[in-house]
Amino acid sequence: MRLTKMNWILRNFIFSIFLYQTCYGVVKENFKECSQSSFCRRLRDIKPDNSNYILNLNTLQVSENAVESELLNSAENVKFKLVLTALAGNMFRVYADEVSPLHKRYRVENILDGEPQVARLEVLKRTEDEVVVQSGDNKAILKSKPFKIEFYKNDALVAVVNGRGLFTIEHLRAKNVPLEGEENQVVQEDPGMWEENFKSHHDSKPRGPEGVALDITFPGALRLYGLPQHADKLALRTTGSGGLDPYRLYNLDVFEYIIDSTMSLYGAVPVVYAHSTSNTVGAFWLNPSETWVDINNSKDQNVVSSLVNLVSGQASESRVDVHFMSESGVVDLFILMGPMPKDCAKQYTQLTGVAPLPQYYTLAYHQCRWNYITEDDVTSVVKNFDEHDMPVDTMWLDIEYTDGKKYFTWDPIKFPHPDQMLMNLTSTGRHLVIIIDPHVKREGGYFLHEDALSNDYYVKTKDGNVYEGWCWPGSSSYPDFFNPSVFNYYKGLYSKLKYDNVNNDIMIWNDMNEPSVFNGPEITMPKDCVHHGGWEHRHLHNMYGMVYTAITYEGLLQRNPNKRPFILSRAHFAGTQRYAAIWTGDNMADWHHLAISYPMCLSEALGGISFCGADVGGFFNNPEVELLQRWYQAGVWLPFFRAHAHIDTRRREPYLFAEDVRHRIRSALRLRYAHLPLWYTLFYEHEKFGEPVIRPLFYAFPKDPEVVDIDNQLLVGDSVLAQVISEPGATSAKVYLPGGSSQYWYDIRDSRKYVGDGYTSLSVNLDSIPLFYRGGSIISRKDRPRRSSTLMHRDPYTLIVALDSNNSAKGTLYIDDNESFEYRKKKYLYIQFEYKDKVFTSRMIDNTDYETLEWIERVIIVGAPLGVEKAVLTSKSLGTVNLETHYGEDTLTIRKPGVSVRESFTINLI
Ligand code: NOJ
Repeated sequence: MRLTKMNWILRNFIFSIFLYQTCYGVVKENFKECSQSSFCRRLRDIKPDNSNYILNLNTLQVSENAVESELLNSAENVKFKLVLTALAGNMFRVYADEVSPLHKRYRVENILDGEPQVARLEVLKRTEDEVVVQSGDNKAILKSKPFKIEFYKNDALVAVVNGRGLFTIEHLRAKNVPLEGEENQVVQEDPGMWEENFKSHHDSKPRGPEGVALDITFPGALRLYGLPQHADKLALRTTGSGGLDPYRLYNLDVFEYIIDSTMSLYGAVPVVYAHSTSNTVGAFWLNPSETWVDINNSKDQNVVSSLVNLVSGQASESRVDVHFMSESGVVDLFILMGPMPKDCAKQYTQLTGVAPLPQYYTLAYHQCRWNYITEDDVTSVVKNFDEHDMPVDTMWLDIEYTDGKKYFTWDPIKFPHPDQMLMNLTSTGRHLVIIIDPHVKREGGYFLHEDALSNDYYVKTKDGNVYEGWCWPGSSSYPDFFNPSVFNYYKGLYSKLKYDNVNNDIMIWNDMNEPSVFNGPEITMPKDCVHHGGWEHRHLHNMYGMVYTAITYEGLLQRNPNKRPFILSRAHFAGTQRYAAIWTGDNMADWHHLAISYPMCLSEALGGISFCGADVGGFFNNPEVELLQRWYQAGVWLPFFRAHAHIDTRRREPYLFAEDVRHRIRSALRLRYAHLPLWYTLFYEHEKFGEPVIRPLFYAFPKDPEVVDIDNQLLVGDSVLAQVISEPGATSAKVYLPGGSSQYWYDIRDSRKYVGDGYTSLSVNLDSIPLFYRGGSIISRKDRPRRSSTLMHRDPYTLIVALDSNNSAKGTLYIDDNESFEYRKKKYLYIQFEYKDKVFTSRMIDNTDYETLEWIERVIIVGAPLGVEKAVLTSKSLGTVNLETHYGEDTLTIRKPGVSVRESFTINLI
């Protein structure tokens, strides 16, 4: 009997690995649709305009910042408490929980970046039917029957909560067990309320139904964005019609995921932005349990209703309806009142935090593959990059470096001297990232497993046993990172990765942290597993991976308090940006996956996680050479730039190709390295101001209705526009240049000027994708090619001054030691460049200091004024100096200002 069970388990395991490694194309049936999930079915079935919820305004309590009232489910006679709080920075918070729940409902902790600051709120009017409150230029009207809340910006209605009456909190209840003989008298309930099966898996649901849902209407909105992570367009689509399932947010290991899909992927960020050309408003649904989101955009209304409107002469006003449905928790909703995309993005990061400034090198190029198999392999890859004059900063080691998939160990045969290997890397300014996954191999003698068993650190099954699942090492268990003792223990493990002299240089890749369980339901942990405090996995699933990366972050800080940690995480949730970069997971080497990398990362950036990239080249399969080149060219303009490949693919390090291919990839890499000062400055500004590093066009041009669907182009900050080329053999590209005829755009390759008149057809060849500098910006570059970014630290700057239609431009440059936290003690330079009326000026923005030898090598004015005969530099240390100038076809170059970046100076063109 025992043997048969073992055989079965083994077969199961081998099959799941086989599936993971060799089966091409996602197995859709492994993952639920809404109709297969009891809570989604129940909440989705609720009919609109029939709400049972009544706000009992006789119970209203008013404080300086909030109003609180009883909310009654009149059908079931259950009482809830509803609180509306005004928050600083133009936001409201809507909170609702049961007054006397049978058990405590799950409420998340430590997800927000501290408790949000409250703002003053004033009650303007109060009757039995409604209460009107005001905070700054925002107003909210709470209506009693049926319950709803309207939100106004400057007296214009921008959002309505429960406008369609879908608000629901399933109160916790005892299971109705019929007495003998009375089975027929019990009200029929959805069979999945108390237990549910999916494929061979059973979910015991000990607490029964506990779903929460609500709808929000955004009157006037044209598009809705957000809800990463999905392999879908940036503008979210209407669900329901054409059978499209709701967007699902449930962190899952979906390999070879399909494109244009609302299926869940590895991350879940429940924030949306409703955008029109006059205003943008956001909603953040703070809930870490499985969530589905239905969307209805009036533009997608069916033919019949369009005809009715036509006949009745009614102009249908645009609007977007959203319906959030979560399996458990409380209602905790933030309304981000905008009014512009930029304001919403800042409001969201005000709540969930920003990414701390990363080390400079992490913005450079990363070389990964599953796997570099030995120390010599690692050394030889770097050597080849050097020999072919291609820059690379970071080498990555996937799971095979470990001793039998036991994390925090090294394979003694293949990696016997990791300290020496590291030393080799660091001697040329290179770095190393190694993978550490959350599953722990259940092997006697493995310290981590033994410690976890003896200290009771593992997640438990519903019956109180240690949960056992299958992952890379075979039989594995999963530490309960929600247990503070586990948090402390595990973070200490990162100091074990210390090697003399080089301890700063190993950074961490946290993978499989959804968590991935090959033989679990939907390849993850069963929902009735039990965590610290008795909470079920269902309550906190989407946070598991993020808590894991928080430990890694703390662990790396503990290892070295003055080095900024770098972590790459696959699973993510709202707030992950505070700890880790993310990537788009196991994509495929095809043109569609290249194309989707832009909208996927743009969506993440709107969801606060700017540090995003996609596996360059595609993870599964072998890219054709043209695709690989295009992927490098596009990847340059995503914040995280890493090539990666599956273990079964052919080697594809860029030096392995013919010289023409090498040349193109080398140029792409160099373009990235040249623009590192821009990326670094943008990440600094992200930390300081909370704006995304890459932005969709609608973000920078909110008044332009043409850009609302454009997601094959992106803006780096506000100064570079890039467009992905995602079809083979392209000879031309249709590029949208926004801003109107007074907005200039300059082709990065030849400085040719274009105006922002909309679509233009651009001829392209294999050498480049469409790239433009925006007129009005000053971009800082380092143009001297080197082997790694670390070796460029002392190099001088080239400043590109791209003039606008008023012959002026502005830009910033941020400089510090590239690695430590000293910048938080004012050890940095933050410089404002400006060009106006033929005068270029440089001045410090903050009163700070940082010693550096970096200097300005050249200033190139693009769209340059004619007739300049000389340039005169004035600075305190250099006095007045005449500079050489040179006219190119569309540029004027001012040669060798030679002035230190630490000095304020002016250059007059005469
Ligand atoms: C899954 C990750 O998504 C992939 O990037 C990695 O190579 C494999 N796990 C092996 O660790």
